[in-house]
Amino acid sequence: MKLYEFEAKKVFEKMGIPIPKQYGVIRSPKELDMLKLEFPLMLKSMVLVGGRGKAGGIKKAKNKEEAKKIATELFKLKIKGFPVDCLLLEQAVEEIGACYVGITMDPATFNNVVIVSASGGVDIEQVAVQNPQAIMRKEIPDNDKEISKTIAQDLASSLNNSLKGKTELTKTLTEIIAKVYATYQRFDARLCEINPLIITSNGAVAADAKLVLDDNALFRQVELLEMLGITEKRHDVAERTKNELRAQSAGFPYIDLLPQPFTKDQKKLYVGLIPGGAGYGIFSIDEVSTIGNRYFHDRIVPVNFMDSGGGPPQNRVAEMFHLLMDYPVVDLIVTSRFGGISSCDIFIRGMVQAVKERYESGKRMVPVFGRMVGTDLPNARAFLEKAKAENPEALQNVTIYVGNQRIMADVIREGIQKAFEAKGWKP
Ligand SMILES: Nc1ncnc2c1ncn2[C@@H]1O[C@H](COP(=O)(O)OP(=O)(O)O)[C@@H](O)[C@H]1O
Ligand SMILES: [Mg+2]
Repeated sequence: MKLYEFEAKKVFEKMGIPIPKQYGVIRSPKELDMLKLEFPLMLKSMVLVGGRGKAGGIKKAKNKEEAKKIATELFKLKIKGFPVDCLLLEQAVEEIGACYVGITMDPATFNNVVIVSASGGVDIEQVAVQNPQAIMRKEIPDNDKEISKTIAQDLASSLNNSLKGKTELTKTLTEIIAKVYATYQRFDARLCEINPLIITSNGAVAADAKLVLDDNALFRQVELLEMLGITEKRHDVAERTKNELRAQSAGFPYIDLLPQPFTKDQKKLYVGLIPGGAGYGIFSIDEVSTIGNRYFHDRIVPVNFMDSGGGPPQNRVAEMFHLLMDYPVVDLIVTSRFGGISSCDIFIRGMVQAVKERYESGKRMVPVFGRMVGTDLPNARAFLEKAKAENPEALQNVTIYVGNQRIMADVIREGIQKAFEAKGWKP
C-alpha cells in the first residue's frame, strides 16, 4: 500500500529523518487562508503516482497571492490521469545538491538492498541506464533489523565524495541511511525512498518521501495506520501504459513487457502474444524467449502478457487483435486458443472480424500465426475455412493450425521462421 508523501513525511519525522518544515495539507485553495505560512513555499500535488514534478504538479510560490493562483491551478491538474487529491504545503529549501537514497528488496536474492546516488532529483531509472556507475548499491544479507555502521558509513562516504561539496556530510548521511533502513524494517515496507535528499548549506533534508507498505504485513502495522488516520486498505494505483489502459477499458488483463514509449532494435523481431488463459500467456512468453534464444541468436522479443479471461465475447477478442496491430512495435502475432471454458468458434470469429475490418479500412496489418484446439472446434474450423475462401487477400497472412497435430512450440518456431523469411533475414 502506497502512502502519500505527507503521510510518509510524518513517518520520517517520527523516525528522526530530517524533512522540510511542514505547514499542512489543504483540500481547496481557500484553506490556504487558515494556515500560517512562510515563503518561499512549496505547493505539492498529492497523488499516489510518481513523476509529479515533470507533470507540473510541484510548484514554488514567492508570496500568498502567487500561492493562491498556483493552488487553484494544481487542483485542476490531472497527473498520469489521476486527479490531485490534496496539496501539501511545505518550506522550499535552498538546494546545493541532490541525492537518492532508497531501500527495497532484491527480487532475485530476497536480500534488502540499499541504493544511493549523488545524482538524485531526476529519474533514478534514467541514471541507472545512462550512467550506472553513478549508483551505488549494497545488499544486506540476512536482512538484519539494523544496517551495520560500517556499511552505512561506506555508502555515506562515497556519496559525500561524489557530491564534491565543500561541507563534510559523511556523518549526517550515515545517520540518514541508517534511519531510512530502520524505517523500512520497522514498518514492513517494500520500498522506502528519498528522491531527492536535498543537500542544503547546513545539512540534508528529505524533500520527497516515498513509503510503500507490504500489504501482507499490514496487520502488524495497526499503530502506524492509526497514527496516519488510515482506516481502510487503499487500492494501489498502478501507473498504466496506453496499451494497458486500452485493455482495461475493453475488459481484459494486459501487461506491456517493454518500457513505453519504446524504440525498436531493427535487428530484432517483436512478437505480440494473444494466448488463451493467463497460464498459456506466461508459457508463451517463456517459449518465445527460449525459441529465440536457441534458434534465432536472441533476436526475438516477446512484447506483452495478455489473458482473454474465460469465455470472452467476440468483440473483446477482436479488440485484443486490434490492440496489438495498432501497437507499432509488433512484427508478428502468435496466438494459441486452448478452448476450455472459451469457445474456439467465438475466438476465430473475433479474429476474422478484426483482420477484415483492418484490411477494409487500410489499417496496419500484422501477420498472425497460431494454433487452436478445444471447445467448438468443428464450427471454428468451418468458419475459418469459409472466411479464408471468401477473403483470401485480407486473411492471407493468417495461419492457424486447427487441432493438435502440431505442438505449440513448433508452431511458434515456424511463425518466427516465416517472419524472418518475409524480412529477408537469416536465423
Ligand atoms: N521542499 C522542497 N524544497 C525545494 N525543492 C523541492 C521541495 N520539494 C520538492 N522540490 C523539488 O521538486 C522536485 C520534484 O518534487 P518531488 O517531491 O521529488 O516529486 P516527484 O518525485 O513526484 O517529481 C524535486 O526534485 C525538487 O527539485
Ligand atoms: Mg521525487
